[in-house]
Amino acid sequence: MATTNKVKTIGVLTSGGDAPGMNAAIRAAVRRGLQKGVQMKGILKGYDGLMNEEIIDMTARDVSDTIERGGTILYTARCAEMRTLEGQKRAADVCRKHGIDGLVVIGGDGSFAGAQKLAALGINTVGVPGTIDLDIACTEYTIGFDTAVNTAMEAIDKVRDTSTSHERCSIIEVMGRNAGYIALWCGIANGAEDILLPEKYDYDEQKIINNIIENRRKGKKHHIIVNAEGIGHSTSMARRIEAATGIETRATILGHMQRGGSPTCKDRVYASIMGAYAVDLLLEGKTDRVVAYKNGEYVDYDIDEALSMTKTLPEYQWEIARALSYNYTK
Ligand code: ADP
Ligand code: F6P
Repeated sequence: MATTNKVKTIGVLTSGGDAPGMNAAIRAAVRRGLQKGVQMKGILKGYDGLMNEEIIDMTARDVSDTIERGGTILYTARCAEMRTLEGQKRAADVCRKHGIDGLVVIGGDGSFAGAQKLAALGINTVGVPGTIDLDIACTEYTIGFDTAVNTAMEAIDKVRDTSTSHERCSIIEVMGRNAGYIALWCGIANGAEDILLPEKYDYDEQKIINNIIENRRKGKKHHIIVNAEGIGHSTSMARRIEAATGIETRATILGHMQRGGSPTCKDRVYASIMGAYAVDLLLEGKTDRVVAYKNGEYVDYDIDEALSMTKTLPEYQWEIARALSYNYTK
């Protein structure tokens, strides 16, 4: 890949919700930049830290022993000021003051919108998809999803053990904001009887109640419902189901445990390549881009184009998830 070395100093920040594998992306960006003779800086606490000039020099040693760690060594934050033109100008001024002429932003769609604004103000920016939600339209992979679904899957297996012993119904709520990818994957991986996704749920609770009663009649010991955060209300749903079926029902909300932990091999490797790729784009003189994984390849898109794309749940995956559920096994 040809480099013009136009960019002399690259800043890296993580923004929005943290995700396992963000450290691998930071490490890769820092080491790739240093290898190419660029000065690397870490910006702490996302756009908030940028506004407050919380900026540190990064050496190769600073990212040692980080690839296996969850969270983000640069910390993260949500920053309301970045949504205003005044805040965006201030952030761009801080970049200029610190000689940052290239910026790698690791986060989700919101963080990319911030990067897009900085690009319009003359700061070369590249986004790297980092979110457990898998809800970024331009890419088939987002850093953290693989670890999060594995964490959730293991937790649901554990709930299932006790659910079976007590012959209960269990509703397990997983994260994903408005998207159902974590729920869909866990639904398949954990063999859930019902999978409730914001993209698909028809709010027909009676259907679920009928399934539970019918399955119990056939001798099934447990009934696992994976419920997406976008639907929520698991506790009240459990109360209603228990009242209607007479079967003890418990709700478990997995919550932030899904965002922590040591990243899986997949998250470490994809994040490493994406972090390095972002630096390579900046060194090619590119800006206003977002790194993506599409059809088995690492690619990049214009941020405007990336943000205008819409993502739909894979229909076949949904069909099979339902087909494999005990509810539909005749
Ligand atoms: P994510 O990046 O995971 O989607 P958020 O939506 O919380 O998370 O966005 C992270 C941060 O990105 C916000 O706190 C804000 O600082 C910045 N941001 C979000 N939307 C915009 C926007 N439209 N313009 C500028 N900055 C934005
Ligand atoms: O975007 C990641 C995510 O964990 C979502 O799944 C969830 O809706 C949200 O962040 C929770 O945000 P917070 O950490 O601010 O509670």
